[in-house]
Amino acid sequence: MTANSTPLTAHRGAPLQGRIRVPGDKSISHRALILAALTVGESTVSSMLEGDDVIHTANAMRALGARVERTGEGLWRIHGVGVGGFVTPAGLLDFGNSGTGCRLALGAVAGCPVIATFDGDASLRKRPMRRVLDPLEKMGARVLQSAEGGRLALTLQGAADPIPITYESPVPSAQLKSAVLLAGLAAPGETTVIEAEATRDHTERLLKHFGAKITSKPHGENGRRITLQGQPELEPAAVVVPADPSSAAFPLVAALIVPGSDLILDAVMTNPLRTGLFATLREMGAKIETLATRAEGGEEVSDLRVTTSQLKGVDVPPERAPSMIDEYLILAVAASFAEGVTRMRGLKELRVKESDRLAATADMLRINGVTAEVDGDDLIIHGKSNVAGGGEVVTHMDHRIAMSALMMGLASGEPVRIDDSAFIATSFPGFVELMRSLGANLT
Ligand code: S3P
Repeated sequence: MTANSTPLTAHRGAPLQGRIRVPGDKSISHRALILAALTVGESTVSSMLEGDDVIHTANAMRALGARVERTGEGLWRIHGVGVGGFVTPAGLLDFGNSGTGCRLALGAVAGCPVIATFDGDASLRKRPMRRVLDPLEKMGARVLQSAEGGRLALTLQGAADPIPITYESPVPSAQLKSAVLLAGLAAPGETTVIEAEATRDHTERLLKHFGAKITSKPHGENGRRITLQGQPELEPAAVVVPADPSSAAFPLVAALIVPGSDLILDAVMTNPLRTGLFATLREMGAKIETLATRAEGGEEVSDLRVTTSQLKGVDVPPERAPSMIDEYLILAVAASFAEGVTRMRGLKELRVKESDRLAATADMLRINGVTAEVDGDDLIIHGKSNVAGGGEVVTHMDHRIAMSALMMGLASGEPVRIDDSAFIATSFPGFVELMRSLGANLT
């Protein structure tokens, strides 16, 4: 905890009741800004997530030459520079806490003949960038300088003549896939990414929306082969950002574990590559009713009604990880209140998120009286209906640890305190006020 940190405590209290819409999807917000910046002409984004992570991306697009203006609440107008049209920024590009903003912008810059320095906060400086730099170097970009292992701060020289590649992704990462596709925009011919396990496809959908030619075919049992035709004339477009399922996950799980709760979450994006958590919770016995489903902004969205449920432990298969990679922390909270053992398998990627989330999840549970073990890349949780609570959780500059720990405190015997709530604003501005409006006791 630093002198500037803002601790927060969650207390057991009233049922959670109401009807809310959580902020816009973080993944789509970053992508909308970057693709609009690579389009000649004026694009608009509505219901954009105005969290710190996305604001850093907006600032970076401005520094690279796009005109980016906020015209109202969640409303943005972007005048792009066209594929390959970025300019060398005057200062360094600061991505704050955001791996997505940084890695996607690395890809976009790699296809332009400019030099840019990428940096971020202490959490982002620890995260692996080599996985993205490897294919970008194959495409002709050069790393002029970096910290150990290709980490931030790093200076990238984009390719004057980017080379299209076929890249077999060694890790299931939508950020890596997106970085290659964004660099491939400026390359002549076809850029192909092959992924063994399908990851979120928002880049592919938005590329199509902005007029690029892109195909996605099944590959192997769970994978995809994605091919982009380079050097398209991207057309300006209007993007409507649906509500973020990864943010909806926090009030949703809180409603499941706080007795007497009845909550409606409006227009939550239910893209099947993002709904692993909802499937898992339903297997655990969660009462999550789909009230209505429709299309919004090129994605499926659903109104969900959630009521308090008696949960049971389950085995979560490793192949589900890409569709719920950001949700294991809050699933761990649900599993703590479930009857029996939950085993979550294949969580290797959690070690390289905003913090080492595998270790941090186990710590968060243990300090609140829940038995949890890490076994290789698996997390095993011994649930029980009465969680003791009473712990102070170290959040490690990680928004999702902060929100998960608070949700635990709303249903545990003793209050749960977090050392710092500041990072919640990276992905979920207004989280505390929204939870309080549902009846949550946060002090
Ligand atoms: C994201 C992809 C995931 C996820 C992150 C957002 C994206 O990261 O954890 O919060 O928008 O592409 P990886 O690609 O590293 O798995």
